[in-house]
Amino acid sequence: MDAGSERTLVTGASGFIGRHVALEMGARGPVVGAALAHPDFSTGALPPRFEAARLDLADPAAIETLLDKTRPSRIVHLGAMSSQVECERDPARAEAVNVGGTAALATWAGRRGAGFFFFSTDLVFDGRRGGYREEDAPHPLSVYGRTKARAEEAARRAHPGAVVARVALAYGPTLGARESHSDWIVRTLRKGESITLFTDETRAPVAALDVARAVGLLLERGFAGTIHLAGPSALSRHAFGLEVARAYGLDAGLIRPASRVGQVPERQRDGSLVSSRATQLLGASFFRTPDDGLRQAALAARKS
Ligand SMILES: NC(=O)c1ccc[n+]([C@@H]2O[C@H](COP(=O)([O-])OP(=O)(O)OC[C@H]3O[C@@H](n4cnc5c(N)ncnc54)[C@H](OP(=O)(O)O)[C@@H]3O)[C@@H](O)[C@H]2O)c1
Repeated sequence: MDAGSERTLVTGASGFIGRHVALEMGARGPVVGAALAHPDFSTGALPPRFEAARLDLADPAAIETLLDKTRPSRIVHLGAMSSQVECERDPARAEAVNVGGTAALATWAGRRGAGFFFFSTDLVFDGRRGGYREEDAPHPLSVYGRTKARAEEAARRAHPGAVVARVALAYGPTLGARESHSDWIVRTLRKGESITLFTDETRAPVAALDVARAVGLLLERGFAGTIHLAGPSALSRHAFGLEVARAYGLDAGLIRPASRVGQVPERQRDGSLVSSRATQLLGASFFRTPDDGLRQAALAARKS
């Protein structure tokens, strides 16, 4: 790899959003993509200068070794135990991966003067009121949300220039091994199977493509601090499912409404994020609506 150009380490590069981010960062220089269970990037588009690496974020020594070997000038950290169910089942591992891994990466980046961009989540909020802004205090309901809130603090403590991006429910084309929420809905409805989605759980769905573009631009502009990356409309999961069905011409009758009440762990009622800080920096219409984003994704899927 060329020593002079900006090299990015993308953790979680095999993940749904990670594949989009790897492509985006690959347009700006060489990328090292790290993953744990899916370190084989043989399917789907990849940046031209891409190197794969295997990494367990629960192993601080392995993190240090990879960083010393690859010497990235910036780290985009998406790798995480991202399943709420798995985090509830194994909170100790969730803590080690989500908090310990973030702390180790941010500490290395802080010491070396490398950029650090951390992917957090709307699930750091309790969802009692919605419309969350960057200055609102986190109050997570789940193990996953708690580890992400603690990881945010660890990142800020270790690296004064860190970007902490809280990302809303992301959708869009699946590029690798890990499927997007919207593609799961499409695949299930195509098989003629029904799905159940909550009418009383609201998020502000965001196109993964827009998230990836935002990462590139915010790093380029030297942004530091906390920022929300979310779509312009707050929708229930059920309403989002109906939008998916409409965009792909699928049978919306297969989508059954349900209530989140009684779910364990307790789920947010309205975790919608407001991304006015991002739109001030990136443009008022930077984040496409779910209607536009899903129609574009459906069109691209028909062409491929
Ligand atoms: N998707 C969303 O709607 C959403 C919303 C808010 C925030 N986020 C956050 O955004 C980030 C990316 O989300 P995503 O949906 O793209 O995630 P994802 O598809 O679930 O992928 C998770 C990624 O983390 C890697 N990973 C998991 N455990 C690891 C470990 N112990 N060591 C190293 N890597 C590990 C996975 O690698 P393998 O594939 O090799 O296992 C994969 O690349 C995550 O931090 C997530 O918390 C996502």
